[in-house]
Amino acid sequence: MSTKEYIKNFIKDPNIASVTPTSKQGVKEVCSKMSFENRVVIIEYGPATGVFTDYLLNQISHDSVIITIELNENFVHYLKNNVQDGRVHIHHASAERVQDIMDEFGEQADYILSGIPFTLMNNEVRRNIVKQTHSVLKPGGKFLPYQTFFQRDRHLKDHLHEHFSSVQDRYVFRNIPPMRVYEAIK
Ligand SMILES: C[S@@+](CC[C@H](N)C(=O)[O-])C[C@H]1O[C@@H](n2cnc3c(N)ncnc32)[C@H](O)[C@@H]1O
Repeated sequence: MSTKEYIKNFIKDPNIASVTPTSKQGVKEVCSKMSFENRVVIIEYGPATGVFTDYLLNQISHDSVIITIELNENFVHYLKNNVQDGRVHIHHASAERVQDIMDEFGEQADYILSGIPFTLMNNEVRRNIVKQTHSVLKPGGKFLPYQTFFQRDRHLKDHLHEHFSSVQDRYVFRNIPPMRVYEAIK
C-alpha cells in the first residue's frame, strides 16, 4: 500500500494510531525475541499492511501458522489480496475475539505480536484482551506488544503484570515514532 493511501486510512480510523507502518529495524527488533527453529503458531493483532507478516513468512517453517486479527476492513481487504500464503489465516475481527478464534483453530499459540493501541482503549477492553491473550498462549509462550514510546504503565504494563510470570520492556529508537516494546512470558 502506498504511503499516501496508508495515511488516508490513518486519518479516517483513529484505531490505526500510527501514521506509518513499523520500520524494518523495528520489525527485526520486536521479532528478535522469537525463535523459528521449530514449528510455531503465531497470532498477530493489528497487522495492517503486513510488515510483520511478510518478515515472519521468510523466517518460519513450511508447517508454521500465522493467524492475523485486524479490525480495519480496508487493511483486511489489502492483506487478503496481497498475502497469498497458505500459512496465513486472516480474520476481520477485534483482538477481543481471540479466545473464540483460537477455540475454533484448536491450538494454543507460541507467540502473539501486537501493534494495537492499548493507550486508546478503555480499561475494561485492555484487561479483557490481556486476559484472553494469556489464556490462548502455550505455557512459556510470549506476548510481544510494540507500542508508542510515551505509553504509561497503566495502559499496558500493569495489566501484563497481573497475568504473566515475567514482564520486561525496552525502547526502540530506530522507528518513527520510537517504540516501547514489551516481552511478557506465560
Ligand atoms: C499502529 S498500527 C500497526 C500496524 C502494523 N502492525 C505495523 O506495525 O505497521 C495498529 C493496527 O491495529 C489495528 N487495530 C486497532 N485496534 C484493534 C483491535 N482491537 N483488534 C484488532 N486490530 C486492531 C488497526 O486497524 C491497525 O491496523
